[in-house]
Amino acid sequence: MPAVAHRRVVLITGASSGFGRTFAQRFAKQGADLVLVARRRDRLETLARDLHAAFGTTTTVIARDLSLPGAAQAVVNDLGERGLVIDALINSAGFGTAGPFADEQVGRVTDEIQLNVVALTQLSLLLLPDLLRSPAGLLLNVSSTAAYQPLPNIAVYAATKAYVTALTEAIWQESRGTSLQVLALAPGPTETEFFAAAGSDRFKVGQMLTVDQVVDAAFAALARRNPPPSVVVGGRNRATAFVARLAPARLALRVSARLTA
Ligand SMILES: NC(=O)c1ccc[n+]([C@@H]2O[C@H](COP(=O)([O-])OP(=O)(O)OC[C@H]3O[C@@H](n4cnc5c(N)ncnc54)[C@H](OP(=O)(O)O)[C@@H]3O)[C@@H](O)[C@H]2O)c1
Repeated sequence: MPAVAHRRVVLITGASSGFGRTFAQRFAKQGADLVLVARRRDRLETLARDLHAAFGTTTTVIARDLSLPGAAQAVVNDLGERGLVIDALINSAGFGTAGPFADEQVGRVTDEIQLNVVALTQLSLLLLPDLLRSPAGLLLNVSSTAAYQPLPNIAVYAATKAYVTALTEAIWQESRGTSLQVLALAPGPTETEFFAAAGSDRFKVGQMLTVDQVVDAAFAALARRNPPPSVVVGGRNRATAFVARLAPARLALRVSARLTA
């Protein structure tokens, strides 16, 4: 990773739990300062205190509900008020809804799209000028193996993740020739608070992973001489994602429906 004159500032959404929390610990260990965003302020403040004690990290906590319209701009305004310029953006905040599409709740699905798609897109876009100016610029969007085929019974969630991968890979290509690193991270099912938040185990399709395996895979991909636009974590998950993209739609949908029933 190229050196930055100041301490690298990494903004992580979804830092109160799961992947976001572990990314915060890893970047703090590397000597970065942090901006942590999620709704649960108490958790973010505890994490900030722990990281300061362990690594001397300066952390700014921004407690916001990113599913609210205008939330991304509000975060950017918060940064401006504090004079913070971001070198790296990790969009990890996200949640899933499950069940047949006909049974989905409009409000919850709207929040899901606002968080997984709208806030992620707006933060990426609003912070891109800073990321491009940084000699250690990084945009890492947490997608999912759900991105690689439509998933009956997890229809909206899979569609949001297909969007995240498509968007991120396109930005990766547009950023070639700049110092900005861009990565779509596609974990398979991983033991975090994700399943409890979703209230469903339908997402447990594929090779189960640990949070550390996923975060290790992200850093390994970024350390490659020619980093890829996206990384699917886990050998079996990679094979499934590859086959799903080649399979005829009817077959892929029939198999997916059985797995998520
Ligand atoms: N775990 C898996 O199996 C898995 C697999 C593939 C991809 N993913 C993706 O990984 C990402 C992180 O999930 P995780 O597994 O780490 O789950 P998690 O432990 O439930 O963490 C989700 C994070 O998102 C934050 N969040 C949720 N709603 C929010 C809102 N409205 N506004 C702001 N922050 C919000 C939560 O914080 P607060 O509740 O404090 O707001 C929490 O920090 C998600 O994008 C998810 O889709 C997960």
